[in-house]
Amino acid sequence: MIVRLLLANCRCDPYHTEVNSAASITPAQGKLGILIPGLGAVSTTFIAGVEAIRQGIAKPIGSLTQMGTIRLGKRTDKRSPLLKEFLPLAQLDQLVFGGWDIYNDDCFQAASHAEVLEKDLLEKVKPLLSSIKPMAAVFDKNYVKRLDGPNVKKAATKMDLAEKLREDIRGFKADNKCDRLVMIWCGSTEAYRAPGAVHASLEAFEAGLKANHPDIAPSMIYAYAALQEGVPYANGAPNLTTDTGALLSLSRQNNAPICGKDFKTGQTLMKTILAPGLKARMLGLSGWFSTNILGTRDGEVLDDPESFKTKEESKLSVLEHILQPELYPDLYKNFYHKVRINYYPPRGDNKEGWDNIDIFGWLGYPMQIKVDFLCRDSILAAPIVLDLVLLMDLAKRTPELRGLGIQEWLSFYFKSPITPPGLYPEHDLFIQSMKLKNTMRHIMGEEMITHLGLEYYD
Ligand SMILES: NC(=O)c1ccc[n+]([C@@H]2O[C@H](COP(=O)([O-])OP(=O)(O)OC[C@H]3O[C@@H](n4cnc5c(N)ncnc54)[C@H](O)[C@@H]3O)[C@@H](O)[C@H]2O)c1
Repeated sequence: MIVRLLLANCRCDPYHTEVNSAASITPAQGKLGILIPGLGAVSTTFIAGVEAIRQGIAKPIGSLTQMGTIRLGKRTDKRSPLLKEFLPLAQLDQLVFGGWDIYNDDCFQAASHAEVLEKDLLEKVKPLLSSIKPMAAVFDKNYVKRLDGPNVKKAATKMDLAEKLREDIRGFKADNKCDRLVMIWCGSTEAYRAPGAVHASLEAFEAGLKANHPDIAPSMIYAYAALQEGVPYANGAPNLTTDTGALLSLSRQNNAPICGKDFKTGQTLMKTILAPGLKARMLGLSGWFSTNILGTRDGEVLDDPESFKTKEESKLSVLEHILQPELYPDLYKNFYHKVRINYYPPRGDNKEGWDNIDIFGWLGYPMQIKVDFLCRDSILAAPIVLDLVLLMDLAKRTPELRGLGIQEWLSFYFKSPITPPGLYPEHDLFIQSMKLKNTMRHIMGEEMITHLGLEYYD
């Protein structure tokens, strides 16, 4: 006991790693500009929601940064501040919004078209929404076959398009007197591309921009422009964008954080809640069949096999990583995993996701679980957008984090976390949650929590 007491008071205790860098985080002064490629259902639901919360007519349900608390110290210390009071985050009234879209609709028109929020609510936030008009987009129909719009930039090369985006970014910052910016992709899912030589290094990528290389997608041009301007970039879609050698090195070079891809919302959220539980109790899995119907523009885009392939890759990888069949061959070797998305217009944003899960227990006896999640896609995604922009801005202001490039602690929010080459991603929501909160404690100079708890029994 004496040894343990000594350890508890000593900085060398492995369970009490401490740093004290809270003071080195730049305060969140001035305006934070949120730049969004893709002003569709998710982004307008996010912006309308922030404005409704600012007006005091709605609550930020689903947002960890706004509603969550964090335990500090021992359970007996009873210190559990709200995250937004613990961390030096930008306040909601410091946020300003802008973005790009291939359609000319302002955000009020786009939100009305998306039919996620009720007309009454939209009317109350109309002044802000109708003031946000999309800048001309960088678009390539080869990457999103189902869409075509008039509000598109023209230039001789992809490098010229990147330069135009950089001008937009600087212009937005100056016009809105922003102190800092964050970019978050809420545009459509692009056609599948595997990483190739043109994505491998910054030199190859820049040469490819100048030569109009066909494997450089619009989302990569936005990301390149943001990172060149030192602006953090988050990716709400499963597109191959920043998970390439080229953009990872640009991110590190310019202290502009990047994170995972594809918001973890409906069915995959459920999967990453259920699968860790089955594995924790050593229950086997023989098959997991997931199907969805949704009727938004996103659903229409995903009806194209090339865009669906990008989404499918993102959705499928989750179970392999959580269940680790190589460690548990008796339980998870050869489980069958199928994911389907069907475009069904009558449902709009009110997606329905069905899961049939075939599991087995003691002595191999089979059982079934059925999940029928009647969710609302953009309602689940909007608070993730809010958390990500606030936390990416925090990462940019935190010396210990901003030079890392990938912010793996934000994997909690993504279907496809990004990791450095050779490091497998954590998909288990509970591991991700612990990593997220321990990173917050760490940068604020608080002790990390291991849940060992032996000290309560001394
Ligand atoms: N809602 C969710 O639960 C969820 C979850 C994970 C990922 N996502 C992804 O988030 C993205 C947005 O979803 P949504 O429901 O808002 O879709 P949406 O179709 O309503 O909006 C996407 C917008 O992006 C625009 N766009 C397409 N390419 C563009 C480009 N190159 N530049 C600028 N604008 C462009 C489209 O015109 C459209 O207005 C999709 O990729 C979707 O797969 C959504």
